[in-house]
Amino acid sequence: MTTQEILRDFPPQREQMLLMLHAVQNNNPGNNITASDIRQVADYLNTTTASVYGVVRYYSMFSMNPRGKYIIRFCKSPLCRMVGAFSLLKSLEKELSIKTGETTSDMLFTLEPSECLGHCDKAPVMMVNEKMYFHLDDARIRDILSQIREQELKKQQP
Ligand code: FES
Repeated sequence: MTTQEILRDFPPQREQMLLMLHAVQNNNPGNNITASDIRQVADYLNTTTASVYGVVRYYSMFSMNPRGKYIIRFCKSPLCRMVGAFSLLKSLEKELSIKTGETTSDMLFTLEPSECLGHCDKAPVMMVNEKMYFHLDDARIRDILSQIREQELKKQQP
């Protein structure tokens, strides 16, 4: 689907910009927003590219850099840190062989730090794309990653 086709699903109103940018980003293979996307959104909303850039830069869920198919947002806010998030994040980095902020070489995972994800009572917490995972520990994280990897392998089989 092209960016133009995605935009046509939305009324050309500025309050739709966040939803549009989400849809465009989700559609791109690099899970990012390109300069061309920004121009097209600006034209569609009859606004400036600077105002669209401003929104993309303000919200951490948007990225202009290509990222993995699965974005892992790991909560690093105080309540999660109090119950071991820091050491879990280190395990996650080791498991993925990347540092926070990086993408795996197979372009499957990008690991990003996150502010509070709003489920402090279920800490430690992370989000993988749109799905939340609670009460994390090392074993659960390994399990989540291997489920995703298996799922991707199955998709590649004929
Ligand atoms: S502090 Fe981690 S979900 Fe709130």
